[in-house]
Formats: sequence, C-alpha cells, structure tokens
Amino acid sequence: MHSFRHLYIHIPFCRHKCGYCDFNAYAGLDGLMAPYVDALERELAFAASSYPFGELRTVYFGGGTPSTLSPELISRLLTRVRTEFSLEAGAEVSLEANPASTDVERLEAWRRGGVNRLSLGVQGFDRRTLAVLERRTDGAMAEQAVRLARAAGFRNLSLDLIYAVPYQSLESWQQTLQRAIDLAPEHLSAYCLTLEEGTQLFRQWQRGDLPAVDPDEQWMFLEKCQSALTSAGFHRYEVSSWSRPGFESRHNRSYWQCRPVYGAGCGAHSYARLGAGARRWWNVARPQSYISSDTFIEAGEELGPRKAAAERLMLGLRTVAGVRTEPGFEVEIERLRSAGLVETVGRVVRPTRRGLDLNNQVALAVL
Ligand SMILES: C[S@@+](CC[C@H](N)C(=O)[O-])C[C@H]1O[C@@H](n2cnc3c(N)ncnc32)[C@H](O)[C@@H]1O
Ligand code: SF4
Repeated sequence: MHSFRHLYIHIPFCRHKCGYCDFNAYAGLDGLMAPYVDALERELAFAASSYPFGELRTVYFGGGTPSTLSPELISRLLTRVRTEFSLEAGAEVSLEANPASTDVERLEAWRRGGVNRLSLGVQGFDRRTLAVLERRTDGAMAEQAVRLARAAGFRNLSLDLIYAVPYQSLESWQQTLQRAIDLAPEHLSAYCLTLEEGTQLFRQWQRGDLPAVDPDEQWMFLEKCQSALTSAGFHRYEVSSWSRPGFESRHNRSYWQCRPVYGAGCGAHSYARLGAGARRWWNVARPQSYISSDTFIEAGEELGPRKAAAERLMLGLRTVAGVRTEPGFEVEIERLRSAGLVETVGRVVRPTRRGLDLNNQVALAVL
C-alpha cells in the first residue's frame, strides 16, 4: 500500500440543515461534539499506528461545518493531528467555515493550530436566493467573515457560491459574482444547484412548489460565471473551481489525481492504491454510531485495475490539466474526442471547454 500524504477529517455538525444539502451533516447534535472529538482522536491514533503515512501534504477539515466546533475542541484536534503525524513544510491545512460561526476567537484558534486556508460557505448574497436555499446567513455576515479572516492573518481564502437557484435571475447572479470578486478571495468554487433526492428542496420540487432550472439556463449562469471570473483574473482549473495562479486547492487535487487519502470521522471515505488497482472504504455515517464504534469502518470495496483506471480518467477529466491516457480506453476517448468534449496532446487527454461544462457526459462515457 502506498503511504497516505493527504488527510481528511469530517465534522458533521451544522447550526441548521440547509434545504439543498445531502452531505453527512446534522443540526441539533451539538451535545455530541465533545464525545465526537474524543472518537476522532482515537481514530487518528489508530490510523497513525495501523497504516503507512508519509509527511502530510494536505489536511482538510470538511463537513458539515467544522467552524461550529468550539475553539477548545478544534485546538485539541489540530494538536492531535500534529502529534500523530508529521506535516511537510508548507503543508496546506484547510478548514470549511460558515460565516455565522467565523468569529475572532475561533479564527485565532485556527491560526494558532496551523490552519492556513479557509473555505467560506457564502452561497450567495441576494436575499431571495438565500431564502430558497434556506440559508441562515446573509451577505453582510459573509463580508464580515472575510474581513475578520484577513485581520486574523489568513492569506488563502476560498468562497463557495451556488448558481441556477430557482427564482435567481442572471442579473442577481452577476451582482453576486461582483460582490464575491470585490472581497478579493484567492479561490472560488461555484456549484450548479443540484436537487438531491431526500432533501427539502427536492421534495418542494416534487410537489410542484419549486420550479426546476433547465440545462440551457444553467449553462447561461455558468457562462456569466466564467466570463466574470476570468476578467477578474481567476482561472478555471476544474469543473467548479477558479483560482488566482498558485492558489488551486491542493487537497482537492489529490482526489482528482486519485492519490491515497485517509478520511477520518463519520462517513469519511479513504482511498488506497493496491498494485494496479485500489481499495476504498468508508466509516459508519451516523455520529452516534461512529462514537460508539470500535473499528469506525462500515464497509469497503476493491477496485480492479480497469475500474481504478476508469476512475482516474473520470476524475482527471474534471481538471483543465487533464490526465494521462489509460490503455484500454481508446474507444471511449475517441468517442469523446469526436463529440468535441476532450482533446489529446501526446499521452495526455484533457477536457475542452465544452467537456468541462458537460462533465457529467464525460464521466458517463468513461465509467
Ligand atoms: C460541506 S459544505 C461546506 C460549507 C459549510 N457547511 C456551509 O455551508 O457554510 C460544501 C459546499 O457544497 C456545496 N453544496 C452542497 N450541496 C449542494 C447542492 N445540492 N448543489 C450545489 N452545491 C452544493 C455548497 O456550496 C457548500 O458550501
Ligand atoms: S450546506 Fe453546509 S451548513 Fe448547510 S447543511 Fe450542508 S454542510 Fe451544513
């Protein structure tokens, strides 16, 4: 097994469960935060003594909403990471934060503990869009969070935005993009709203209480995003990711390059390379079950060489840089090439602009 250089830590707590979100995230479980951090510490100690780890290149606290943890709890976790693992010089340590729980005390605890990249869940600025998304934050809170983060010394900030929300106009999206650009982040992720089965928004749509946004309209939102962000000096390096040069997410790149990632915490996935294939496993999803579990793991699967190669292609084709072609996929790649979705340059296959925009089709063709 190759050694792990990337560590993901899942924090499942949120103040409110947003209507669109089907992440493994829960509101109203704050009473479990302390025992959950105890369990995470046990898992990290177990992982460090059971699996091969090299110096970590990236550590990522994702969720849920890691910023909901108190300064004491997150400090304990950050210290534990450094006692169980060594981090390479300049390692990227990211934390997902909600503007509502980004305050001076927490920002100081994150900085002291070595967090050097914040990803802020802004989602939007206009009231109507935020109301449809059931967000409890507003534009002013997002702006305040950015100001506080800068004052605390954060030099690598990313903002999450969502577009193609029912009732959102192209004009208000344009204004949202401008307000995001005015905050001068180093990185932006813009996601097309997906109506995920089982969410509140999906049920509203099923009942006919919410209009769906059709693919042509979604594309117009994406087009606005691409032109506004490009003119502002950002480059799109992945389907939903834009950055200033040098500020691409190194942790996310490890997923797109199918590098070994150890995932700790409830529902977290780990990926290890095994010869020409791979192995994936995932932890028990519910926080309470995770806390009381001895082994943490729910299940796993082996990926044979072809399945592992298909995933490398599929994930690599999410990035503008593309991926080395895989033997045995000549037919699929040729089909994508003749549809204008990818191009090959030597041994590298990479998506065209159309292939980036229609990434779902690329993924379907490869898998
Ligand atoms: C785990 S959240 C991290 C931020 C934090 N929990 C918050 O919301 O403030 C990851 C991101 O995924 C995006 N996301 C989640 N569900 C989505 C959906 N159904 N459609 C589009 N984007 C979604 C949101 O932009 C969100 O910020
Ligand atoms: S979008 Fe973020 S805050 Fe909202 S429920 Fe999902 S993880 Fe929690």
